[in-house]
Amino acid sequence: MSAPDRAAPPNARRTALRGPMVWFVGSPFEQGDEALMYESDGLLIMEDGRFIERGPASALLPLWADRVTVTHHPHGLIVPGFVDTHLHLPQMAVMGSYGRQLLDWLTEYTFPNEARFHDPAVCADEASLFLDVLASHGVTTGSVFATVHPGSAQALFTQALRRNVRIVAGKVLMDRNSPEGLRDTAQQGYDDSQALIDAWHGKGRLRYSVTPRFAPTSTPAQLEAAGELVNQNPGVHIQSHLSENLDEVAWVRSLFPNASSYLDVYRRSGLLGRRAIYAHGIHLDSEEWALLSESETALAHCPTSNLFLGSGLFELDRAMSSSTPVRVGLASDIGGGTSLSPLQTMGEAYKVAQLRGHSVTAAQLWWLHTLGAAEALDMGSLVGNLAPGHEADAVVLDGAHIPLVAHRMAQVRSIHEQLFYFAACGDDRLVRETWIAGECAYNRSES
Ligand code: GUN
Ligand code: ZN
Repeated sequence: MSAPDRAAPPNARRTALRGPMVWFVGSPFEQGDEALMYESDGLLIMEDGRFIERGPASALLPLWADRVTVTHHPHGLIVPGFVDTHLHLPQMAVMGSYGRQLLDWLTEYTFPNEARFHDPAVCADEASLFLDVLASHGVTTGSVFATVHPGSAQALFTQALRRNVRIVAGKVLMDRNSPEGLRDTAQQGYDDSQALIDAWHGKGRLRYSVTPRFAPTSTPAQLEAAGELVNQNPGVHIQSHLSENLDEVAWVRSLFPNASSYLDVYRRSGLLGRRAIYAHGIHLDSEEWALLSESETALAHCPTSNLFLGSGLFELDRAMSSSTPVRVGLASDIGGGTSLSPLQTMGEAYKVAQLRGHSVTAAQLWWLHTLGAAEALDMGSLVGNLAPGHEADAVVLDGAHIPLVAHRMAQVRSIHEQLFYFAACGDDRLVRETWIAGECAYNRSES
């Protein structure tokens, strides 16, 4: 990229972060630790919502002189804003609900709570809290399920636009096997989704995602209608759930006897592709892995949810295999997931891989929740990295105020050790500031 215009008029919204920082120059699954770069005293210039220059502070400060306001974090760590590839707006209030497994948990806790979203006031309050909580956890991009009520997506988009946060979201499509009051019809779901696409897709940093909840709660007619929405609206995203739980997989087999697999149900309706992301994908056969790879469909790996609901152990090694690669991003999947903290999600992803006999490196974990997650959402050129040209989303981490963290940090010998420790033992208490599109959206000391 050519050098930025450092003499640009002072009315440009320009600011800078200074301190230790990390970014990626590739995938650590392909290039190993070399893919992660570290600068112990970096300067990152942000202008009009984008990063425009990054380099050692000693080299850049004299060039920028008094033309930029610098926020300095000498003892922090500046990292790319986290990308959560799968979570549910209406499920903050069901996190940590005791239950057995997926299908009981949905009926007992999730559906009743989602029914509250018929009320626009609930939608507005929950959307506001949701975006506050994302910022305080360092999450700057999310692929979000609203509820079946169009007003829930409307409320989320309205407030996300105001905050200039990058949100991909959709109203849930669900026309069977769910309670009265939480069902649409194939036609109503189509019409409501189209109206939301017209109003919000591509507005500011927002994108629409066509969102059939999962195959069991949509009739074949509704899945067809979802495929038609995708066909009629190039550029929209697709999100749903896939092969999370063995009872669910058996149910799909009985509901769709003509499909050759769970994934084939979605394929038949035109719901695969580079902009499609499916949560979980734990119980997949070889043909489904091959179909994900061929169709460039991505998976959201949700380790805290998979452990909490006893769903199973995701085969990350298989997704990353060079013969049938599948893009994967990490996700909280709240409320099945037990934390919105990307640090905790990375720690649990490490443990899930350990249980399958694979040790994931620190660089790989961090990539899976930043640039790799952005790539899984087909947004790798926009978000997920501290790179000139990328949107200016960043997080400043620092745990010096926590005696145990300060004590442990005194023993850390490299950036990889520090990143691994943060992933293994960290949580939202480490988030000091979250920057969204070049503005400080969360500051721990002011909250
Ligand atoms: N499958 C269908 N709906 C859901 C949901 O809300 N959460 C999870 N974890 N799985 C699902
Ligand atoms: Zn989910």
